[in-house]
Parts: sequence; structure tokens; C-alpha cells
Amino acid sequence: MTNDFRLVRITSANIDTAIAVKVRPDQERFVSAVVKSLAEAYVYPDVAWPRLILDGDQPVGFLMAFLDIDWNGKGVDFRSGLWRLNVTPEAQGRGVGSFAVASVAAEIRRRGGAKMYVTWEPAEDGPENFYRKLGFELTGEQSDGETVGVLDLTISG
Ligand SMILES: CC(C)(COP(=O)(O)OP(=O)(O)OC[C@H]1O[C@@H](n2cnc3c(N)ncnc32)[C@H](O)[C@@H]1OP(=O)(O)O)[C@@H](O)C(=O)NCCC(=O)NCCS
Repeated sequence: MTNDFRLVRITSANIDTAIAVKVRPDQERFVSAVVKSLAEAYVYPDVAWPRLILDGDQPVGFLMAFLDIDWNGKGVDFRSGLWRLNVTPEAQGRGVGSFAVASVAAEIRRRGGAKMYVTWEPAEDGPENFYRKLGFELTGEQSDGETVGVLDLTISG
């Protein structure tokens, strides 16, 4: 089966489809529901970049990037990265997550950025090894109890 992954903006035509994107029940503790992400995108419209992920016309996931956020509120450290990533159970293991990371990396590069950040909850069954496999390195920081990872966009594909 070939993949035809693409990102689309959230619109009045697909908002219900986006909200219906769910991860496996045992994974729900690792990522907020799409409806919460869309509420946050409404509140932070300048930095939130939400997209539905389609394979052809089939919804397979949802991502939300953060673009140039004031990381610790001191006005000195502005970061971009992946805020949310939800891949449907049926679509997991088929490259949707890798496509999402590459797509956000491309958007950050397009805006002149050189680093992509992500945070995850440390847990054996969590997404840490997925991000490590894609080249994310630990910054050594914690953010709200989550591990902070960074991908150097000047050296990765
Ligand atoms: C983690 C998640 C985004 C991965 O998405 P995916 O579409 O299954 O990932 P891909 O198919 O692109 O996998 C890329 C590689 O990572 C590996 N991988 C995926 N999930 C992994 C995990 N949890 N642990 C270790 N490796 C993993 C895949 O086997 C694949 O390896 P390969 O290139 O050698 O074949 C998805 O499982 C998910 O939505 N999880 C629940 C929500 C979540 O944790 N989101 C992240 C919040 S920060």
C-alpha cells in the first residue's frame, strides 16, 4: 500500500473530522485530545500551527506546531517545535509520525529557524524512542515535568 500523506488546514469543512482523530486509549495520557489543541490554537493564534494529516482523503492524524514562542516568558529564548502529535491507531507504524516531524521541520526552516523542539512525558511506553529514532537529542531540561528534546535542522534531512 502506498502512502499519500499531506497536511491540510483546519476548516469548517473538516473540523469534526479533526476532532474525531484519536490515539489508542492507552496512549491518551501522552497527548491532549485534538479538541483541546484546537481550543489552544484559538487562544494562541499567533504561535499555534494546527494541521490535519490525511493519507489521500483518509484522516490519519493531527499535529500542532508552535512557532516562535517565548519559551520561559523572559523575552530572550524564542523556540519553535512540535506541540502535539496524534496518529490514529490504524495508521501507526506507517510513517505518519515521521511525516509530521518532517513537515514541521520544513515549516520551521522555511521561517528561518534552525532548531525544532518537542517535549514528551518520560515513560517506557511513551514516544521518547520515536523521537530519538528521528534524531532528537535531550537538551537536559524539563518543562512541566516533561523531557525536552531538540532536533538540529542544520544537519538533518
Ligand atoms: C508516537 C507516534 C506519534 C508515532 O507515530 P507513527 O506514525 O506510528 O510513527 P512512524 O510510523 O513514523 O514511526 C517512525 C519510526 O519510529 C518507530 N516508532 C514509532 N513509535 C515508536 C515508539 N513509541 N517507540 C519506539 N519506536 C517507535 C517506528 O517503528 C518507526 O521506525 P522505523 O523507521 O525503523 O520503521 C504515535 O504512536 C502516536 O500518536 N502515539 C500516541 C500519542 C503520542 O505519544 N504523541 C506524541 C506526544 S509528544
